[in-house]
Amino acid sequence: MRVSIFGTGYVGLVTGTCLAEVGHDVVCVDVDAGKVERLRQGIIPIFEPGLEPMVRSNHAAGRLDFTTDAARAVAHGEVVLIAVGTPPDEDGSADLQYVLAVARTIGEHLERPVIVVDKSTVPVGTADRVRATIASVLAARGADIGFDVVSNPEFLKEGAAVEDCMRPDRIVLGADSPAAVEKLKRLYAPFNRNRDRFVVMDQRSAELTKYAANAMLATKISFMNEIANIAERVGADVEMVRKGIGSDPRIGWHFIYPGAGYGGSCFPKDVQALARTAQQHGHPPLLLDAVEAVNERQKGHLHELALRHYGAAGIAGKTFAVWGLAFKPDTDDMREASSRRLLAQLWDSGARVRAYDPEAAGEARRIFGERDDLVLCGSAQEALEGADALAVVTEWKQFRSADLAQVRAQLADGVLFDGRNIYRPEDAEEAGLAYYGIGRGRSV
Ligand code: UGA
Repeated sequence: MRVSIFGTGYVGLVTGTCLAEVGHDVVCVDVDAGKVERLRQGIIPIFEPGLEPMVRSNHAAGRLDFTTDAARAVAHGEVVLIAVGTPPDEDGSADLQYVLAVARTIGEHLERPVIVVDKSTVPVGTADRVRATIASVLAARGADIGFDVVSNPEFLKEGAAVEDCMRPDRIVLGADSPAAVEKLKRLYAPFNRNRDRFVVMDQRSAELTKYAANAMLATKISFMNEIANIAERVGADVEMVRKGIGSDPRIGWHFIYPGAGYGGSCFPKDVQALARTAQQHGHPPLLLDAVEAVNERQKGHLHELALRHYGAAGIAGKTFAVWGLAFKPDTDDMREASSRRLLAQLWDSGARVRAYDPEAAGEARRIFGERDDLVLCGSAQEALEGADALAVVTEWKQFRSADLAQVRAQLADGVLFDGRNIYRPEDAEEAGLAYYGIGRGRSV
Protein backbone atom coordinates (compact mmCIF):
# COMPACT_ATOMS: atom_id res chain seq x y z
CA MET A 1 0.00 0.00 0.00
CA ARG A 2 1.25 3.54 -0.68
CA VAL A 3 1.56 5.42 2.59
CA SER A 4 2.63 9.00 3.34
CA ILE A 5 3.52 10.24 6.79
CA PHE A 6 3.73 13.85 7.86
CA GLY A 7 6.26 14.37 10.65
CA THR A 8 9.46 12.38 11.20
CA GLY A 9 9.50 12.61 15.00
CA TYR A 10 9.36 9.53 17.18
CA VAL A 11 5.96 8.35 16.09
CA GLY A 12 6.24 9.24 12.39
CA LEU A 13 9.72 7.85 11.86
CA VAL A 14 9.13 4.61 13.75
CA THR A 15 5.72 4.00 12.18
CA GLY A 16 6.98 4.80 8.68
CA THR A 17 9.96 2.53 9.06
CA CYS A 18 7.95 -0.37 10.45
CA LEU A 19 5.32 -0.03 7.70
CA ALA A 20 8.12 -0.11 5.10
CA GLU A 21 9.67 -3.10 6.87
CA VAL A 22 6.48 -5.11 6.29
CA GLY A 23 6.43 -4.18 2.61
CA HIS A 24 4.48 -0.96 2.25
CA ASP A 25 5.71 1.86 0.03
CA VAL A 26 6.31 4.75 2.44
CA VAL A 27 7.15 8.42 1.95
CA CYS A 28 7.90 10.46 5.07
CA VAL A 29 7.68 14.21 4.81
CA ASP A 30 9.11 16.82 7.14
CA VAL A 31 9.59 20.58 6.94
CA ASP A 32 13.16 20.29 8.30
CA ALA A 33 15.32 19.95 5.17
CA GLY A 34 18.47 19.14 7.15
CA LYS A 35 16.74 16.31 8.97
CA VAL A 36 15.31 14.93 5.73
CA GLU A 37 18.75 14.96 4.12
CA ARG A 38 20.30 13.16 7.09
CA LEU A 39 17.51 10.58 7.12
CA ARG A 40 18.16 9.93 3.42
CA GLN A 41 21.75 9.18 4.40
CA GLY A 42 20.53 6.83 7.12
CA ILE A 43 21.40 9.16 10.01
CA ILE A 44 18.57 9.23 12.49
CA PRO A 45 18.07 12.11 14.93
CA ILE A 46 17.21 9.98 17.98
CA PHE A 47 18.68 7.05 19.84
CA GLU A 48 16.23 4.22 19.47
CA PRO A 49 17.36 0.58 19.61
CA GLY A 50 17.06 -1.19 16.24
CA LEU A 51 15.74 1.78 14.31
CA GLU A 52 18.78 2.99 12.36
CA PRO A 53 19.59 -0.26 10.53
CA MET A 54 15.91 -0.62 9.66
CA VAL A 55 15.77 2.91 8.23
CA ARG A 56 18.86 2.20 6.14
CA SER A 57 17.77 -1.17 4.78
CA ASN A 58 14.29 0.01 3.87
CA HIS A 59 15.60 3.18 2.27
CA ALA A 60 18.11 1.12 0.28
CA ALA A 61 15.32 -1.24 -0.78
CA GLY A 62 13.34 1.74 -2.10
CA ARG A 63 10.39 1.22 0.24
CA LEU A 64 11.12 4.20 2.50
CA ASP A 65 11.87 7.69 1.29
CA PHE A 66 12.13 11.09 2.94
CA THR A 67 11.17 14.41 1.42
CA THR A 68 10.27 17.99 2.19
CA ASP A 69 7.91 17.98 -0.78
CA ALA A 70 4.43 17.93 0.74
CA ALA A 71 2.71 17.89 -2.66
CA ARG A 72 4.63 14.75 -3.60
CA ALA A 73 3.69 13.11 -0.31
CA VAL A 74 0.00 13.88 -0.75
CA ALA A 75 0.10 12.59 -4.33
CA HIS A 76 1.84 9.40 -3.17
CA GLY A 77 -0.38 8.22 -0.33
CA GLU A 78 -3.58 6.19 -0.48
CA VAL A 79 -3.31 6.57 3.27
CA VAL A 80 -1.83 9.77 4.74
CA LEU A 81 -0.77 9.71 8.39
CA ILE A 82 -0.46 12.88 10.46
CA ALA A 83 2.29 12.37 13.04
CA VAL A 84 3.44 15.90 13.75
CA GLY A 85 3.93 17.29 17.26
CA THR A 86 1.22 18.63 19.55
CA PRO A 87 3.29 20.64 22.05
CA PRO A 88 1.60 22.11 25.10
CA ASP A 89 0.12 25.57 24.74
CA GLU A 90 0.75 28.15 27.46
CA ASP A 91 -2.25 26.86 29.43
CA GLY A 92 -1.27 23.18 29.04
CA SER A 93 -3.76 22.31 26.31
CA ALA A 94 -2.40 20.68 23.14
CA ASP A 95 -1.36 23.10 20.43
CA LEU A 96 -2.92 21.88 17.19
CA GLN A 97 -1.33 24.35 14.79
CA TYR A 98 0.96 21.74 13.19
CA VAL A 99 -1.78 19.14 12.84
CA LEU A 100 -4.15 21.65 11.23
CA ALA A 101 -1.40 22.98 8.97
CA VAL A 102 -0.94 19.44 7.63
CA ALA A 103 -4.70 19.18 7.13
CA ARG A 104 -4.60 22.38 5.04
CA THR A 105 -1.66 21.04 3.03
CA ILE A 106 -3.56 17.83 2.33
CA GLY A 107 -6.58 19.87 1.19
CA GLU A 108 -4.42 21.99 -1.10
CA HIS A 109 -2.76 19.09 -2.90
CA LEU A 110 -5.38 16.34 -2.87
CA GLU A 111 -6.32 15.03 -6.31
CA ARG A 112 -8.02 11.70 -5.47
CA PRO A 113 -9.76 10.06 -2.50
CA VAL A 114 -7.60 9.39 0.52
CA ILE A 115 -7.76 8.18 4.09
CA VAL A 116 -6.28 10.69 6.52
CA VAL A 117 -5.12 9.18 9.79
CA ASP A 118 -4.53 11.14 13.00
CA LYS A 119 -1.64 9.40 14.71
CA SER A 120 -0.49 12.30 16.87
CA THR A 121 -1.94 12.47 20.37
CA VAL A 122 -4.72 14.97 19.86
CA PRO A 123 -7.57 16.30 22.00
CA VAL A 124 -11.06 14.92 21.61
CA GLY A 125 -12.72 16.54 18.61
CA THR A 126 -9.55 16.93 16.54
CA ALA A 127 -10.64 14.43 13.87
CA ASP A 128 -13.67 16.64 13.29
CA ARG A 129 -11.45 19.72 13.01
CA VAL A 130 -9.10 17.96 10.60
CA ARG A 131 -12.07 16.92 8.49
CA ALA A 132 -13.53 20.44 8.53
CA THR A 133 -10.17 21.98 7.63
CA ILE A 134 -9.57 19.67 4.66
CA ALA A 135 -13.19 20.13 3.50
CA SER A 136 -12.98 23.91 3.59
CA VAL A 137 -9.71 23.99 1.62
CA LEU A 138 -11.17 21.59 -0.96
CA ALA A 139 -14.33 23.72 -1.17
CA ALA A 140 -12.24 26.87 -1.71
CA ARG A 141 -10.48 25.07 -4.56
CA GLY A 142 -13.83 23.95 -5.93
CA ALA A 143 -12.60 20.37 -5.71
CA ASP A 144 -15.05 17.57 -4.94
CA ILE A 145 -12.86 14.77 -3.66
CA GLY A 146 -13.90 12.20 -1.05
CA PHE A 147 -11.77 11.55 2.03
CA ASP A 148 -12.08 9.87 5.41
CA VAL A 149 -10.49 10.82 8.70
CA VAL A 150 -9.54 8.06 11.12
CA SER A 151 -8.22 8.49 14.64
CA ASN A 152 -5.50 5.88 15.17
CA PRO A 153 -3.48 6.78 18.28
CA GLU A 154 -0.01 5.35 18.79
CA PHE A 155 0.99 3.63 22.01
CA LEU A 156 4.70 3.03 21.46
CA LYS A 157 7.24 3.57 24.22
CA GLU A 158 10.58 5.25 23.62
CA GLY A 159 13.40 2.76 23.95
CA ALA A 160 11.13 -0.07 22.78
CA ALA A 161 9.48 1.77 19.91
CA VAL A 162 10.25 -0.64 17.06
CA GLU A 163 9.13 -3.64 19.06
CA ASP A 164 5.95 -1.86 20.22
CA CYS A 165 5.13 -0.81 16.67
CA MET A 166 5.72 -4.25 15.17
CA ARG A 167 3.93 -6.07 18.01
CA PRO A 168 1.28 -3.72 19.35
CA ASP A 169 -1.00 -4.73 22.25
CA ARG A 170 -3.88 -3.19 20.39
CA ILE A 171 -4.56 -1.15 17.27
CA VAL A 172 -7.23 1.43 17.99
CA LEU A 173 -9.21 2.64 14.98
CA GLY A 174 -11.66 5.47 15.51
CA ALA A 175 -13.69 5.87 12.34
CA ASP A 176 -17.14 6.44 10.97
CA SER A 177 -16.48 4.75 7.65
CA PRO A 178 -16.45 0.93 7.38
CA ALA A 179 -14.46 1.17 4.14
CA ALA A 180 -11.74 3.20 5.86
CA VAL A 181 -11.61 0.67 8.71
CA GLU A 182 -11.20 -2.17 6.23
CA LYS A 183 -8.39 -0.38 4.44
CA LEU A 184 -6.51 0.33 7.67
CA LYS A 185 -6.98 -3.25 8.79
CA ARG A 186 -5.20 -4.26 5.59
CA LEU A 187 -2.46 -1.71 6.22
CA TYR A 188 -1.79 -3.04 9.72
CA ALA A 189 -2.49 -6.73 9.00
CA PRO A 190 1.23 -7.68 9.32
CA PHE A 191 1.23 -6.33 12.90
CA ASN A 192 -2.01 -8.07 13.82
CA ARG A 193 -0.63 -11.46 14.73
CA ASN A 194 -1.68 -14.26 17.12
CA ARG A 195 -4.97 -12.62 18.01
CA ASP A 196 -7.19 -9.86 16.74
CA ARG A 197 -5.69 -6.64 18.08
CA PHE A 198 -8.05 -4.23 16.35
CA VAL A 199 -10.36 -2.20 18.56
CA VAL A 200 -12.77 -0.27 16.37
CA MET A 201 -14.71 2.66 17.80
CA ASP A 202 -15.84 6.19 17.06
CA GLN A 203 -13.25 8.95 16.66
CA ARG A 204 -13.88 10.74 19.94
CA SER A 205 -13.55 7.54 21.95
CA ALA A 206 -10.30 6.73 20.14
CA GLU A 207 -8.92 10.17 20.90
CA LEU A 208 -9.89 9.87 24.56
CA THR A 209 -8.48 6.32 24.74
CA LYS A 210 -4.99 7.61 24.12
CA TYR A 211 -5.19 10.18 26.91
CA ALA A 212 -6.85 7.71 29.26
CA ALA A 213 -4.04 5.18 28.72
CA ASN A 214 -1.27 7.67 29.49
CA ALA A 215 -3.19 9.27 32.36
CA MET A 216 -3.83 5.85 33.93
CA LEU A 217 -0.12 4.95 33.72
CA ALA A 218 0.89 8.34 35.14
CA THR A 219 -1.66 7.87 37.92
CA LYS A 220 -0.14 4.52 38.87
CA ILE A 221 3.30 6.14 39.14
CA SER A 222 2.11 9.12 41.16
CA PHE A 223 0.13 6.79 43.40
CA MET A 224 3.25 4.76 44.13
CA ASN A 225 5.28 7.90 44.73
CA GLU A 226 2.64 9.00 47.22
CA ILE A 227 2.87 5.63 48.99
CA ALA A 228 6.68 5.94 48.92
CA ASN A 229 6.49 9.27 50.71
CA ILE A 230 4.20 7.78 53.33
CA ALA A 231 6.51 4.75 53.68
CA GLU A 232 9.45 7.05 54.27
CA ARG A 233 7.66 8.75 57.13
CA VAL A 234 6.22 5.70 58.84
CA GLY A 235 9.42 3.64 58.64
CA ALA A 236 8.28 1.18 55.93
CA ASP A 237 10.00 0.11 52.71
CA VAL A 238 7.96 0.86 49.59
CA GLU A 239 9.83 -1.84 47.68
CA MET A 240 8.29 -4.42 50.02
CA VAL A 241 4.91 -2.76 49.62
CA ARG A 242 5.32 -2.88 45.83
CA LYS A 243 5.99 -6.60 45.93
CA GLY A 244 3.08 -7.02 48.30
CA ILE A 245 0.55 -5.33 46.02
CA GLY A 246 1.86 -6.16 42.53
CA SER A 247 0.99 -9.82 42.88
CA ASP A 248 -2.69 -8.88 42.93
CA PRO A 249 -3.59 -9.22 39.24
CA ARG A 250 -6.05 -6.36 39.56
CA ILE A 251 -3.10 -4.12 40.43
CA GLY A 252 -0.33 -5.78 38.40
CA TRP A 253 3.43 -5.38 38.36
CA HIS A 254 3.73 -2.68 35.73
CA PHE A 255 4.18 1.03 36.38
CA ILE A 256 4.25 0.77 40.14
CA TYR A 257 7.92 1.64 40.45
CA PRO A 258 8.41 4.67 42.66
CA GLY A 259 11.18 7.01 41.64
CA ALA A 260 12.23 10.55 40.96
CA GLY A 261 9.01 11.27 39.05
CA TYR A 262 7.86 10.59 35.51
CA GLY A 263 9.18 12.63 32.59
CA GLY A 264 9.27 12.40 28.82
CA SER A 265 7.37 14.00 26.02
CA CYS A 266 4.09 12.27 26.80
CA PHE A 267 2.95 11.81 30.40
CA PRO A 268 3.48 15.37 31.65
CA LYS A 269 2.00 16.89 28.48
CA ASP A 270 -0.91 14.47 28.15
CA VAL A 271 -1.99 14.59 31.79
CA GLN A 272 -2.08 18.38 31.56
CA ALA A 273 -3.88 18.39 28.23
CA LEU A 274 -6.54 15.98 29.49
CA ALA A 275 -6.99 18.10 32.60
CA ARG A 276 -7.48 21.15 30.36
CA THR A 277 -10.05 19.29 28.28
CA ALA A 278 -11.93 18.31 31.44
CA GLN A 279 -11.79 21.88 32.69
CA GLN A 280 -13.02 23.28 29.38
CA HIS A 281 -15.98 20.92 29.52
CA GLY A 282 -16.95 22.02 33.01
CA HIS A 283 -15.49 19.08 34.90
CA PRO A 284 -12.83 19.99 37.49
CA PRO A 285 -10.16 17.28 37.03
CA LEU A 286 -9.39 16.63 40.70
CA LEU A 287 -7.53 13.37 40.19
CA LEU A 288 -5.53 14.48 37.15
CA ASP A 289 -4.47 17.66 38.91
CA ALA A 290 -3.29 15.59 41.86
CA VAL A 291 -1.36 13.19 39.61
CA GLU A 292 0.46 16.16 38.15
CA ALA A 293 1.05 17.86 41.51
CA VAL A 294 2.45 14.67 43.06
CA ASN A 295 4.82 14.30 40.13
CA GLU A 296 6.00 17.90 40.33
CA ARG A 297 6.77 17.42 44.00
CA GLN A 298 8.47 14.09 43.35
CA LYS A 299 10.89 15.60 40.87
CA GLY A 300 12.27 17.63 43.76
CA HIS A 301 12.57 14.64 46.06
CA LEU A 302 16.22 13.78 45.46
CA HIS A 303 17.12 17.34 46.35
CA GLU A 304 14.96 17.03 49.48
CA LEU A 305 16.96 13.97 50.47
CA ALA A 306 20.21 15.84 49.84
CA LEU A 307 18.91 18.64 52.09
CA ARG A 308 18.03 16.09 54.72
CA HIS A 309 21.57 14.74 54.66
CA TYR A 310 23.56 17.93 54.33
CA GLY A 311 21.26 20.53 55.87
CA ALA A 312 20.20 23.74 54.15
CA ALA A 313 23.64 25.29 54.08
CA GLY A 314 25.59 22.08 53.62
CA ILE A 315 25.09 21.48 49.89
CA ALA A 316 26.99 24.58 48.76
CA GLY A 317 30.48 23.69 47.61
CA LYS A 318 29.73 19.95 47.30
CA THR A 319 30.24 18.03 44.08
CA PHE A 320 27.52 15.58 43.08
CA ALA A 321 28.11 12.74 40.67
CA VAL A 322 24.87 12.23 38.74
CA TRP A 323 24.26 8.95 36.93
CA GLY A 324 21.58 9.19 34.26
CA LEU A 325 20.19 12.29 32.56
CA ALA A 326 17.66 10.83 30.10
CA PHE A 327 14.06 10.67 31.32
CA LYS A 328 14.34 6.88 31.29
CA PRO A 329 16.86 4.24 30.12
CA ASP A 330 17.44 3.36 26.46
CA THR A 331 16.78 6.82 25.15
CA ASP A 332 18.71 10.05 24.79
CA ASP A 333 15.55 12.06 25.38
CA MET A 334 15.74 14.57 28.23
CA ARG A 335 12.35 16.21 27.75
CA GLU A 336 10.81 16.84 31.21
CA ALA A 337 13.49 14.57 32.69
CA SER A 338 13.77 14.54 36.49
CA SER A 339 17.51 15.08 36.11
CA ARG A 340 16.84 18.61 34.87
CA ARG A 341 15.07 19.52 38.11
CA LEU A 342 17.77 17.93 40.26
CA LEU A 343 20.59 19.71 38.43
CA ALA A 344 18.81 23.07 38.64
CA GLN A 345 18.21 22.61 42.37
CA LEU A 346 21.78 21.50 43.04
CA TRP A 347 23.13 24.49 41.16
CA ASP A 348 20.76 26.81 43.05
CA SER A 349 22.13 25.34 46.27
CA GLY A 350 25.69 26.08 45.16
CA ALA A 351 26.75 22.53 44.29
CA ARG A 352 28.71 21.34 41.26
CA VAL A 353 27.71 18.38 39.08
CA ARG A 354 29.70 15.66 37.33
CA ALA A 355 27.17 13.83 35.17
CA TYR A 356 27.25 10.69 33.09
CA ASP A 357 24.59 9.28 30.79
CA PRO A 358 25.29 6.53 28.23
CA GLU A 359 23.35 8.33 25.48
CA ALA A 360 22.16 11.77 26.55
CA ALA A 361 25.46 13.71 26.82
CA GLY A 362 24.90 15.47 23.48
CA GLU A 363 21.39 16.41 24.50
CA ALA A 364 22.67 17.68 27.87
CA ARG A 365 25.31 19.79 26.12
CA ARG A 366 22.62 21.29 23.91
CA ILE A 367 20.32 22.04 26.86
CA PHE A 368 22.83 23.34 29.41
CA GLY A 369 25.64 24.69 27.23
CA GLU A 370 29.05 25.29 28.77
CA ARG A 371 28.96 25.98 32.50
CA ASP A 372 31.57 25.89 35.23
CA ASP A 373 29.41 23.85 37.56
CA LEU A 374 28.76 21.00 35.09
CA VAL A 375 31.20 18.40 33.82
CA LEU A 376 29.79 15.86 31.37
CA CYS A 377 31.80 12.69 31.86
CA GLY A 378 32.61 9.82 29.53
CA SER A 379 31.89 7.07 32.04
CA ALA A 380 30.11 6.37 35.31
CA GLN A 381 33.49 5.90 36.92
CA GLU A 382 34.78 9.26 35.71
CA ALA A 383 31.72 11.02 37.15
CA LEU A 384 32.70 9.77 40.61
CA GLU A 385 36.17 11.29 40.47
CA GLY A 386 36.43 14.10 42.99
CA ALA A 387 32.73 13.84 43.88
CA ASP A 388 31.31 13.93 47.40
CA ALA A 389 28.00 12.16 46.77
CA LEU A 390 26.27 10.16 44.03
CA ALA A 391 22.70 10.60 42.81
CA VAL A 392 21.26 7.97 40.46
CA VAL A 393 18.45 9.50 38.41
CA THR A 394 17.97 7.10 35.49
CA GLU A 395 18.06 3.33 35.93
CA TRP A 396 20.33 2.38 33.01
CA LYS A 397 21.16 -1.33 33.31
CA GLN A 398 24.91 -0.69 33.60
CA PHE A 399 24.39 1.23 36.86
CA ARG A 400 22.71 -1.73 38.51
CA SER A 401 25.89 -3.75 38.69
CA ALA A 402 28.06 -0.94 40.12
CA ASP A 403 30.70 -2.03 42.60
CA LEU A 404 29.39 -0.18 45.64
CA ALA A 405 32.62 -0.61 47.62
CA GLN A 406 34.43 1.16 44.81
CA VAL A 407 31.75 3.85 44.71
CA ARG A 408 32.26 4.34 48.46
CA ALA A 409 36.01 4.59 48.00
CA GLN A 410 35.62 7.32 45.38
CA LEU A 411 33.09 9.52 47.16
CA ALA A 412 34.50 11.87 49.77
CA ASP A 413 31.28 11.90 51.81
CA GLY A 414 30.14 8.39 50.86
CA VAL A 415 26.50 9.32 50.28
CA LEU A 416 24.29 7.55 47.74
CA PHE A 417 20.94 8.99 46.64
CA ASP A 418 19.23 6.19 44.76
CA GLY A 419 16.45 7.90 42.80
CA ARG A 420 15.19 4.66 41.22
CA ASN A 421 15.71 2.17 44.06
CA ILE A 422 18.10 0.05 42.02
CA TYR A 423 20.30 -0.94 44.97
CA ARG A 424 19.52 -2.84 48.12
CA PRO A 425 19.96 -0.55 51.12
CA GLU A 426 21.76 -3.31 53.01
CA ASP A 427 24.32 -3.71 50.19
CA ALA A 428 24.97 0.02 50.11
CA GLU A 429 25.29 0.18 53.86
CA GLU A 430 27.59 -2.82 53.92
CA ALA A 431 29.82 -0.97 51.44
CA GLY A 432 29.94 1.88 53.92
CA LEU A 433 27.63 4.23 52.03
CA ALA A 434 24.97 6.40 53.62
CA TYR A 435 21.99 5.26 51.55
CA TYR A 436 18.90 7.27 50.64
CA GLY A 437 16.32 5.62 48.40
CA ILE A 438 12.77 6.54 47.47
CA GLY A 439 10.26 5.51 50.12
CA ARG A 440 12.69 3.33 52.02
CA GLY A 441 11.81 4.50 55.48
CA ARG A 442 13.78 1.77 57.21
CA SER A 443 17.03 3.02 55.77
CA VAL A 444 16.56 6.78 56.06
C1 UGA B 1 4.55 6.63 27.29
C2 UGA B 1 3.62 5.40 27.30
O1 UGA B 1 4.15 4.38 28.13
C3 UGA B 1 3.40 4.87 25.89
O2 UGA B 1 2.47 3.80 25.91
C4 UGA B 1 2.85 6.02 25.01
O3 UGA B 1 2.67 5.60 23.67
C5 UGA B 1 3.85 7.16 25.03
O4 UGA B 1 4.03 7.61 26.39
C6 UGA B 1 3.28 8.26 24.17
O5 UGA B 1 2.24 8.82 24.53
O6 UGA B 1 3.81 8.50 23.09
P1 UGA B 1 7.21 6.94 27.17
O7 UGA B 1 6.94 8.40 27.40
O8 UGA B 1 8.16 6.53 26.10
O9 UGA B 1 5.83 6.19 26.84
O10 UGA B 1 7.80 6.38 28.52
P2 UGA B 1 7.37 5.35 29.68
O11 UGA B 1 8.13 4.10 29.55
O12 UGA B 1 5.91 5.23 29.80
O13 UGA B 1 7.94 6.12 30.97
C7 UGA B 1 7.47 7.42 31.32
C8 UGA B 1 8.10 7.88 32.60
O14 UGA B 1 7.56 7.18 33.71
C9 UGA B 1 9.62 7.71 32.72
O15 UGA B 1 10.18 8.89 33.24
C10 UGA B 1 9.78 6.56 33.69
O16 UGA B 1 10.98 6.64 34.42
C11 UGA B 1 8.58 6.76 34.59
N1 UGA B 1 8.14 5.54 35.28
C12 UGA B 1 7.64 4.48 34.56
C13 UGA B 1 8.18 5.48 36.67
O17 UGA B 1 8.62 6.42 37.34
N2 UGA B 1 7.73 4.35 37.29
C14 UGA B 1 7.23 3.28 36.62
O18 UGA B 1 6.82 2.29 37.27
C15 UGA B 1 7.19 3.35 35.21
